[in-house]
Amino acid sequence: MRTFQIDTGGSLIAPATRPAPTPSAGEVLVRVKASSINARDLLIVSGRYPIEVPPGRIPLSDGAGVVEAVGDGVSRFRVGDRVMSTFHPTWLYGPFPQWGEFHGTQRDGWLTEYIALGEQSLVAMPDHLSFEEAATLPCAALTAWSAVSGVGPGDALLVQGSGGVSVFALQFGRLAGARVLATTSSEEKGRRLGRLGASDVVNYVSTPEWGAQVRALTGGGADRVVEIGGAGTLAQSIEAVAYGGQIALVGNLASGGGMDVTRFFRRAATLRSISVGSRSDFERMNKVIGRHRLRPVIDRVVPFDQAPEAFAHFEKGPRFGKVVIGH
Ligand SMILES: NC(=O)c1ccc[n+]([C@@H]2O[C@H](COP(=O)([O-])OP(=O)(O)OC[C@H]3O[C@@H](n4cnc5c(N)ncnc54)[C@H](OP(=O)(O)O)[C@@H]3O)[C@@H](O)[C@H]2O)c1
Repeated sequence: MRTFQIDTGGSLIAPATRPAPTPSAGEVLVRVKASSINARDLLIVSGRYPIEVPPGRIPLSDGAGVVEAVGDGVSRFRVGDRVMSTFHPTWLYGPFPQWGEFHGTQRDGWLTEYIALGEQSLVAMPDHLSFEEAATLPCAALTAWSAVSGVGPGDALLVQGSGGVSVFALQFGRLAGARVLATTSSEEKGRRLGRLGASDVVNYVSTPEWGAQVRALTGGGADRVVEIGGAGTLAQSIEAVAYGGQIALVGNLASGGGMDVTRFFRRAATLRSISVGSRSDFERMNKVIGRHRLRPVIDRVVPFDQAPEAFAHFEKGPRFGKVVIGH
């Protein structure tokens, strides 16, 4: 079968061929139809991820495909079912248990024609979605779902930028009846965020003190902030968050800054770390996606044999929403 693997020879990933796997007892063989790139994947293939990943690893945690064969004892899926990966293959339900093994780091990932894996680590696709759309859900959508959980009608939600997680957070916020405000770096992206339902967009480049602007626009601050910048944006998020509100700490895209503990303390706010979500969270999210026929926002679908170009585009942009690889 054709795959891509992490390259040590100068480019991020290189094509390779390997024997197609056969499913063991309890495993499912998936013919992968689409995969998608997350910020983490770029760090992994470029050697900037905090844990060591061996050369030759097949990248990507997120994918969707068709069940091609099942091993002995499999009961959750049948041949022909349309399935998606889970980011935490062993976190099935309940509170976060512990760090496990992930596809793309400790286990081979989804940038391949076939993958064999335990049936417990797969979920069924929402019926109305294409494989390309479904491949965007396992990490970015579920992270956004977890980050906005508890947000309801009348709440003010702030999302940062127009990347994978933030666009899903905007969509889920609107579904929940919240007023959604967004920051972005470009006027054109601001218009697109507005078309997706953002009531107000603040340009974080021309308005570096955007926290005060969010506070003014909302008359007291955002009830929930989806924090994807991390250390570099946290000071503004603390400025933006309402008294008693919550900052859902998702990412660390913006370097520098840090946290003024006194200021945070004075907001009486909560800082909550997000780690994607469990399989049961994923299934619950998919029900809502199915019921509302929500469609993921895809920047572009790149053919499988051009996967290196997909990574290059992910890195250099400009992009809006998810970058998908069609297999
Ligand atoms: N904790 C978790 O469970 C979890 C799960 C998924 C992702 N993450 C992390 O969350 C972050 C976002 O992931 P992603 O996949 O959505 O990334 P992404 O698609 O690469 O997001 C890129 C976008 O982020 C925006 N951005 C960058 N710096 C910004 C800043 N200083 N202020 C506001 N927006 C900024 C930009 O939006 P504009 O172009 O509009 O300016 C950029 O286009 C990453 O750090 C990722 O590792 C964490």
